[in-house]
Amino acid sequence: MNRDDFELLNQDIIYFDNGATTLKPYILGDTIKDYYNNYSANAHRSSYDIGLKVNEMYENSRRLVSEFINCKKTEQIVFTNNTTDALNKVIFGYFRHYLNSGDEVLLTKAEHASNVLPWFELADEIGIKVKYIELDKYHKLTLDNLYKAITDKTKVISIAYITNVVGDERPIKSIIEYARNKNIKIVIDAAQAIAHKRIDVPNLDMDFLCFSAHKMYGPTGVGVLYIKEELINDIKPIIFGGGMNASFEFDGAKEYSDMPHLLEAGTPNIAGVIGFASTINYLNKIGMSNIEKYELDLRKYAIEKLKLVNNIIIYNENSESGIITFNIKDIFSEDLAIYLNKYNICVRAGNHCAKILKDELKIKNTCRVSFSFYNTKEEVDRLVSVLNNPNIVNEII
Ligand code: ALA
Repeated sequence: MNRDDFELLNQDIIYFDNGATTLKPYILGDTIKDYYNNYSANAHRSSYDIGLKVNEMYENSRRLVSEFINCKKTEQIVFTNNTTDALNKVIFGYFRHYLNSGDEVLLTKAEHASNVLPWFELADEIGIKVKYIELDKYHKLTLDNLYKAITDKTKVISIAYITNVVGDERPIKSIIEYARNKNIKIVIDAAQAIAHKRIDVPNLDMDFLCFSAHKMYGPTGVGVLYIKEELINDIKPIIFGGGMNASFEFDGAKEYSDMPHLLEAGTPNIAGVIGFASTINYLNKIGMSNIEKYELDLRKYAIEKLKLVNNIIIYNENSESGIITFNIKDIFSEDLAIYLNKYNICVRAGNHCAKILKDELKIKNTCRVSFSFYNTKEEVDRLVSVLNNPNIVNEII
């Protein structure tokens, strides 16, 4: 779908690394160029026309993001640098003050580094305990295992909506409903979900949601932190400086700005935020349900074909997203990715920043294909035929 919107697809490549970042449609570059060429003033600081235009465009982007996830108020949307930054803002800006020594946070071993390391740091700092919900034999989170992991000390569950290696979609709605009754806070890392399915925050009712623009056809260097309305005044800044204060005096007296500017210190990625609006409009035009359906069909097709590849090991045949993780027996995943690159096929190899997932998969490194709506069955056929090359081992050696 929509392949003509992407300059890079005119090159002879098959881009299957959309979990790392997506390609960018022309509209993004055009919008960013327009900002830099025609009104490149700072945001929220000027009283002249081009500065006022920046304010309007920047806040319009915030409105579009909030509508995209059906959030009620723009104050609940904070622009960050990326998902990692958004998670750090939540963990150190909210949970550092909310949690006490001995409180438990539940993660899984399939989480990305950005949803594990900040919790480790907070554990070192204030003595909380990081615990893991056991995964099932498909490396998925089940409600039964979640119920077993919760104790009366569990205060937070912090998990991905869709994981970046196993690619499983978590039963977020049921998890949140259950946690609500136990007064457990919920942090959702939506980095791998946001560009692939509609996320409706009032329906799901999470406390915090984090995602990145660059995984949804937008710019790098822009992320989003959504905060549940009743918590917006309870999160504290972790970065201090310009743009987040109303006044300060020599003696240390200070007054800070209201949300969301309180968490947006310093000149932000203005071009990126404004460009992001164009990609949100672009996704709305294609339709998130069309995207979800197309990618799931493509996954089904790919699994059927890949299963027949000689010596393939697929680690997530039963998952529910466009992420397929595999190895070819006796071939190191990085070598396989380099081999595929010879045929202009881009896949990611390695541990994909989910470094403790090795305890579950029983292997450290894998190859990962992650689909977008611009990928096609013909591209999958090409991958399958290259993987089926009877000389593959010799060509790699
Ligand atoms: N977190 C990104 C990925 O999974 C970079 O590839």
